Amino acid sequence: MKTNSTNQKHESFLTDSFGRIGKKLRISITDRCNLQCVYCMPKNNNNWIDSKDILTFDEMIRFASVMSKLGIENIRLTGGEPLLRSNIEILVENLSKITGIKKISMTTNGILLSDKISQLKKSGLSSINISLDTFNHEKFKKINGTDKLDQVLESIKVASKIQMSIKINNVVMRGWNDDEVVDFARFSKSTGHPVRFIEFMPLDGSGIWNENLVVIKHEIMSKIRREIGKLIPLDIDHSSPARSYTFSDGKGIIGFIPSISEPFCQNCDRVRITSDGHFLTCLFEKPGFDIKALLREWKSDKEMANFIQNCISKKPEGIIQIIRDKQLKPSLNQMNMIGG
Ligand code: 5AD
Ligand code: SF4
Repeated sequence: MKTNSTNQKHESFLTDSFGRIGKKLRISITDRCNLQCVYCMPKNNNNWIDSKDILTFDEMIRFASVMSKLGIENIRLTGGEPLLRSNIEILVENLSKITGIKKISMTTNGILLSDKISQLKKSGLSSINISLDTFNHEKFKKINGTDKLDQVLESIKVASKIQMSIKINNVVMRGWNDDEVVDFARFSKSTGHPVRFIEFMPLDGSGIWNENLVVIKHEIMSKIRREIGKLIPLDIDHSSPARSYTFSDGKGIIGFIPSISEPFCQNCDRVRITSDGHFLTCLFEKPGFDIKALLREWKSDKEMANFIQNCISKKPEGIIQIIRDKQLKPSLNQMNMIGG
């Protein structure tokens, strides 16, 4: 660990054995959801985490404050569907007051967003990723379990109206919604909202994942180029897995999260905690490390920090290694528990 300046000291608390430094924390605040996306949730799931095992907001805030002292700067709230938890704006407000935390964001399916977005903005939420995989009502029902397309589109409109920074997340699956990638690119051009195409990862509770369903970045880019025109790369942000492009008229931002074809593992600066307090240093880590026990035994900040650093030292290389070892298979983990 470097100790020659305060800054450097902080930067190196969360360094793993591959030299990657944790900067971003994702907190899954519930495993429950009002949708049932095929790429995420087990079919007819009734295996929910018991409410007594779900971290309270106070426990999340305590954990986040320990993490901020170790160098975490950004927090993203995820689920399940985070907006299913009431009073989430109180959580956002308290997290945004933690010294060292620069940004709070959220990933949501958007269904309950239109009523809550103004309050969330006032509480300190600075950006939102909204999941939207199709513009077709029937396909929405097929992919996401219930047709809530109109509610999601309404939330996107309300978000624009109050000038909330939003991005659209689109998980592309062959034969399900890959025929709409050009429509989504046009949607970005007309609304200005960045659209990010995500390669389907084997984090599907439903067990449907197979390699043929994965539509890779290169393929999506070719389609968009053919139909709309040249894609011009935007500056690379090395702390983001997304590779972003615009068009020659500068309208629209198209991002790709090529988790399978160009894994981001080498630059990964993320760690996660599940709603029942399991710390995950990687999406593919299972079952993670039990932080809830430490929180509920009132361990000191120092004890928590030591525990966390020990977990970080064991952070696996990631999906890049799973691909190398030819070990990709369905349901390697369950996204609704981890929150993406
Ligand atoms: N592969 C890729 N992305 C996924 N998401 C959920 N499950 C998967 C998966 N199996 C994304 C959704 C959502 C975010 C929480 O994670 O698009 O926006
Ligand atoms: Fe719910 Fe999001 Fe999972 Fe869909 S991807 S089932 S909206 S948690």
